[in-house]
Amino acid sequence: MSSSTKISWYLANLRNLLVVCVRVFIYCCIHPREFYRLSFYFFSTLNEFYQVSHGALEDFEKTRLCAQMKSHMILARSNVFNAEAFVTRPSETQTLAALVCHLRPRTIFEIGTYNGFTTLHFAYNSPDDCKVYTLDLPPDFELEDERNYSYDDLMVVELSKKNIARRVYKQDPLGRKITELFGDSEKFDFSPYYGKMDVIFIDGNHSYRYVESDTGNAFRMLSPNGVIVWHDYDYIIHRDVFKYLNSLARRHRIYAIRHTRFAIYGKNI
Ligand SMILES: C[S@@+](CC[C@H](N)C(=O)[O-])C[C@H]1O[C@@H](n2cnc3c(N)ncnc32)[C@H](O)[C@@H]1O
Repeated sequence: MSSSTKISWYLANLRNLLVVCVRVFIYCCIHPREFYRLSFYFFSTLNEFYQVSHGALEDFEKTRLCAQMKSHMILARSNVFNAEAFVTRPSETQTLAALVCHLRPRTIFEIGTYNGFTTLHFAYNSPDDCKVYTLDLPPDFELEDERNYSYDDLMVVELSKKNIARRVYKQDPLGRKITELFGDSEKFDFSPYYGKMDVIFIDGNHSYRYVESDTGNAFRMLSPNGVIVWHDYDYIIHRDVFKYLNSLARRHRIYAIRHTRFAIYGKNI
């Protein structure tokens, strides 16, 4: 290929990029709601690059687990259309489903049920006899101190309380694998689960204090080959999670999973 072909290819793409920017700008001026979607995707992508450039976690690509997952076809079941603002994004849901499919856990513990979206994905992608426990605040929960909750967390907590009866697994036959638990994760008694959980998913209150306490409990619940997955390792909205995991990475090998806001730990990954 001659260098002039190469240059004209780059120039043509640059021109197309400019055309797209101008047209999208005009479109967003006419449809401001679409601007919100655009900025969401823009910030998400930027945020994910920030993990790589300024995070202290290692790249999940380095793990044996990642190599194993890449080496075969994983037909995970996931609904990538149903991702609303407070649940995992499509690529994240797919990643989580694939992980569970591959690991074949017998027990899963989730902190932060919300509408049961990730919970149902755990039920769908784990072996038939897997038990999925999911913990959220009870419907009559009253906040003692709002300062422990960010604006984002407060919104989700309110919505979550209203949605308890309508959680997505309520009408699903695989809902039988799920046990709902209620309580504040900082005060909940996790001791019956110590040493027994193969997958632990942390997605509750995103303040430093709570992520630290949830993580402590997760380590106590972890089975010998178990993994802990954190959601929202991101600097823009969940800065405390970002800060906490970066500090935890000094003591444990924690990996960031690209194209997601997941961090993962496992003794044998
Ligand atoms: C972001 S949502 C979870 C979303 C869900 N994992 C998904 O992606 O489908 C966070 C949930 O954590 C719950 N939560 C917040 N603080 C909590 C606490 N202290 N203890 C237990 N659950 C809490 C909220 O009520 C909310 O339902």
